[in-house]
Amino acid sequence: MTRPLAIAPSILASDFSKLGQEVRDVVEAGADWIHLDVMDGHFVPNITFGPDVIAKLRPHTDRIFDTHLMIAPCDPYLEAFARAGSDIITVHAEAGPHLDRSLQAIRNLGKKAGVSLNPSTPESVIEYVLDRLDLILVMTVNPGFGGQKFIGSMVEKTRRIKAMIGDRPIDLQIDGGVTPDTAPLVSAAGANVLVAGSAVFKGGTIESYKTNISAIRKAAEAAIS
Ligand code: DX5
Ligand code: ZN
Repeated sequence: MTRPLAIAPSILASDFSKLGQEVRDVVEAGADWIHLDVMDGHFVPNITFGPDVIAKLRPHTDRIFDTHLMIAPCDPYLEAFARAGSDIITVHAEAGPHLDRSLQAIRNLGKKAGVSLNPSTPESVIEYVLDRLDLILVMTVNPGFGGQKFIGSMVEKTRRIKAMIGDRPIDLQIDGGVTPDTAPLVSAAGANVLVAGSAVFKGGTIESYKTNISAIRKAAEAAIS
């Protein structure tokens, strides 16, 4: 089963002094989803923003809000991120002692549930939670910062996870170092949602965002056509 290709710009690489404008601009430039990177300075060595910022961004677009929680513990904050207007909430496999419980909690809040795997995390951690998942995020850099180099060995991991998914209605997402050069690799391996921060926001204008998104989309489409 083929799921639609979606490009999900990460606002981590945008100008935080005008976040609402950046969200509107990147949507006008062709973004399918908005990827929201939440970091706590504990699970990852960087701090970004929390549910109040997401709630303020919510009225700026009706595109899917894809919240990537890089926080531990995650369970105490799931409700706040659901209320803020997230459509998908993704937690890291290591973000709590009971992944199955966290995923159930997200779905019980009426949201789609995702799990994120760090580069060193084996895909076996999702074997028994596949039926609780709407999205699997394969980190192709170590989480914490934008602008890092894509880790090539994650392409084979993506292929294996695609096989594990089978016919289940689960999106397979890639995050980290996605560019028009790396997008075809993961797209051919079965990924259908591509997160990109620096490769989308470089240039700083709607025109450049349009060019950047379209270059990633075309490169990904060419690899699966
Ligand atoms: C990294 C974040 C990514 C990041 C990607 O921890 O999860 O979403 O914004 O940035 P780029 O596309 O620049 O690698
Ligand atoms: Zn992310």
